[in-house]
Order: sequence, then C-alpha cells, then structure tokens
Amino acid sequence: MPVITFANAKGGAGKTTAALILATELASQGHRITILDADPQRWISHWHEISGRQRNIAVISEVSMASIQGHIRENRDTTDYFIIDLAGARDALVATAIGLSDHVMIPVQGCAMDARGAAQILELLKQLDEKAGIRIGHSVVLTRMNSMVTTRAMAAIKALLSARGVAVLDTPIGERTAFRDIFDCGGTLYSMDPAKVSNLDKARENARLFAGEVLGLLPSRKRSATGRGLFRTLRQAA
Ligand SMILES: Nc1ncnc2c1ncn2[C@@H]1O[C@H](COP(=O)(O)OP(=O)(O)O)[C@@H](O)[C@H]1O
Ligand SMILES: [Mg+2]
Repeated sequence: MPVITFANAKGGAGKTTAALILATELASQGHRITILDADPQRWISHWHEISGRQRNIAVISEVSMASIQGHIRENRDTTDYFIIDLAGARDALVATAIGLSDHVMIPVQGCAMDARGAAQILELLKQLDEKAGIRIGHSVVLTRMNSMVTTRAMAAIKALLSARGVAVLDTPIGERTAFRDIFDCGGTLYSMDPAKVSNLDKARENARLFAGEVLGLLPSRKRSATGRGLFRTLRQAA
C-alpha cells in the first residue's frame, strides 16, 4: 500500500487537481484508494461530499500531525494506494507526510514555471536524506500545460530540472476543462457526459497516461517502517 504525496509549498501549483485525477483514475482501474485530505481548504473532502459514494475511494478529512500515521496504519489492509493532498505550505505536517511517503509528486505549473515552491520541497527532501538518511523518491509533474508551451520550451524545462538531478514526468497534466469541472460536478472523468464537457476523451487519456507513469515510479517493495527517530528528524526539518 504505497503512499503517494502531492507537495509544493506554493498554493495554486495544481496539487489538489493532480491528486484527484490520480485517485479517480486508479480507482476506476479497480485499485482501492484512500485519500488523506491534509489541506485545510478541504477541496477533495468537498468533492467527496458532492460525489456521493464512490467505488474504491475513501476520503479522510481532518488529518493532523498527530493522526496521519494512524490513518495509514488503520487503513493499510483495505487500501492499495494512499494519496495525500497537502496544503501549499512547508510546515511540520508537510514534512511528516513526506517522511511517510513512498513517492512525492511535485506539481509545477508548466506555463508559469514558478518553481520556488517546488524548490522548498526539494530542500526538505534533501534535509531528510542528509540528516536522517531517509531517501524518498520524488518527481516533478508539469501541470496546466497548454498549446502555448511548445515542445521545445518543455524540453528546455526538463533539461534544466534534470541538470539539478530532478526527474520530470514525461506526461504533463494539460490545462483542461474536465479537470476543473470534476470539482464542481463530483464523480469521475468516467461519469461525466462527453456531450457536456469539451475534450473529455483527451482528459481521460491524459489521466490514464499520468497514472500509468506514476505507478511505474513506485518502489516494488514497501519501505521499512518509520520510527521515533524519524519523527524527531521531521520535526527538526520542518
Ligand atoms: N490541469 C488543470 N486544468 C485546468 N485547471 C486547473 C488544472 N490544474 C489546476 N487547475 C486550476 O488551478 C487552480 C489551482 O489548482 P489546485 O489544484 O487547487 O492547486 P493547489 O492544490 O496546488 O493549490 C484551481 O482553480 C484549479 O481548478
Ligand atoms: Mg490544494
């Protein structure tokens, strides 16, 4: 039951959207998903409330430093993938969630390329590695990509990040109506009406490729358990 966390210290990077797209895509493929909504804005909890019961998806709200590890422990037997949505912050809860993760996805808006929030998360990951020897896999996913961002510009962005040793997913998340509407309509890309949502087929294909790539990044075996020492380090790093 790997833990995939979406983190970027800046708000508006596309974390919540990417987390929900991944969760609903994996659930539609038959995987059991537990989403930990650790963002005080509660967008995913709100989505769940308007969606009604969704097959293979459980959402836990009110996630705190004190409760997060317990949520994972209590639900591990009924969960194939945990997905954590974080606030746009760099605080103790963010550090703790990252420490519990198998992979950290760092969304960065492709068009704006404001990577400062991403840099703060990369710094936190570096501290965990250097101070506690905890190495957590992580990658940048470019979000809100549109046709204005050329293939060439995209290759340049990827080259820049890879020069700093940061992996970038091959699949960017496009700027799409469906990815906005899902929060208003509830449900999934598969319960939406193609007659009402433009380019829904492209959005579904985008979600499928994104989820496939994320699954390929996960370690085949679960990382070893976390101990008290880790929590002390996380608190210091935060
Ligand atoms: N791929 C996308 N396509 C269209 N709109 C998007 C996309 N990603 C994010 N947005 C919009 O951008 C805003 C911020 O996205 P959000 O996912 O809430 O970011 P964060 O969780 O990092 O604060 C929201 O209004 C959201 O609807
Ligand atoms: Mg958010």
